[in-house]
Amino acid sequence: MRLLGVETSCDETSAAVVEDGRRILTNIIASQVDVHARFGGVVPEIASRHHVESIGAILAAAVADAGTGFDGIDAVATTAGPGLQGALLVGLTAAKVVAFTRGLPLVGVHHIHGHVAANFLTDEPIAFPALCLVVSGGHSDLIIVRSEVDLEPIGHTRDDAAGEALDKGARVLGLGYPGGPIIDRLAQQGDPTAVHFPRALLPGTHDFSFSGIKTALLREVQSGSGHRVEDLAAAYQQAIVETLVQKTIAAARETGVRQVLLAGGVASNSELRAEMQKACAAEGLPLHMPPRSLCTDNAAMIAAAGYHLLRAGRVSDLDLNATANLELGG
Ligand code: KG4
Ligand code: ZN
Repeated sequence: MRLLGVETSCDETSAAVVEDGRRILTNIIASQVDVHARFGGVVPEIASRHHVESIGAILAAAVADAGTGFDGIDAVATTAGPGLQGALLVGLTAAKVVAFTRGLPLVGVHHIHGHVAANFLTDEPIAFPALCLVVSGGHSDLIIVRSEVDLEPIGHTRDDAAGEALDKGARVLGLGYPGGPIIDRLAQQGDPTAVHFPRALLPGTHDFSFSGIKTALLREVQSGSGHRVEDLAAAYQQAIVETLVQKTIAAARETGVRQVLLAGGVASNSELRAEMQKACAAEGLPLHMPPRSLCTDNAAMIAAAGYHLLRAGRVSDLDLNATANLELGG
């Protein structure tokens, strides 16, 4: 079974064709990063306009590159939320058009379910129940994954998401947007012990909080202590990564899961990948991480989630709407 996946929730216009929820035939991602960089963040109205301009060509290119054409597609999966309302509507409407005109089933996918499903784009079986750390620009969640379609969030961020903390930290350091990959790169030349940043471990809950560390960085920079930007980036990143790893391991122990999964844009961070690998190995827990290119927003992950929803009978009606603040499982 081949699904066409569509993703336009933020600043990437993406379409993909995925076979049996596992094998990627094509995954086209048109990033608008350069357009938004000069504003220091995503401008929703500009994002919507760019999606409108490119979605038709990207859908056509996806089915052409996959060698299937629209005739070889069995169903259409699209992000229904959360995300930027106008941006979401572009992909959702395009997906509905394909589904309606071709008489294909339409499947609305929660964006975070998509990120989790990036872990299913492999021949390696997942050992359920698993625990997935989802860290993106908008989310820091710990989710129990009981099956491909049964997700139970057990922890959220109470303020900034991990990616948001990295993006805002980069802005404080005058580094440009998006900050996560820039901090990742700079930190490799820095000394993380040069400065100490607080870790908000919030014992007794699986929630996260990253606003305190952002304020600590701002104070450090304003104090004029003269640390090298590489050292500040390394120390800041280490504090965030340590918090993510420690809380994930604590939740895995408490819930007795059989495997740990990583997902979301921040899951492409080199230090998070390395430290999570070490911590899981020490704990005797198998870890699965999608390749870095499947951690950031893409439509293959939406098609993967859509495939499993379809098999579970969770098809959407053509009156499906985009929901900017869609709840997982809602
Ligand atoms: O999942 P994603 O592409 O979009 C959302 O759903 O938000 O995640 C984007 C986030 C941004 O905050 C970006 O700075 C962060 O992922 N990110 C990284 C890296 N690559 C992207 N953070 C740390 N290290 C990276 N290499
Ligand atoms: Zn995302």
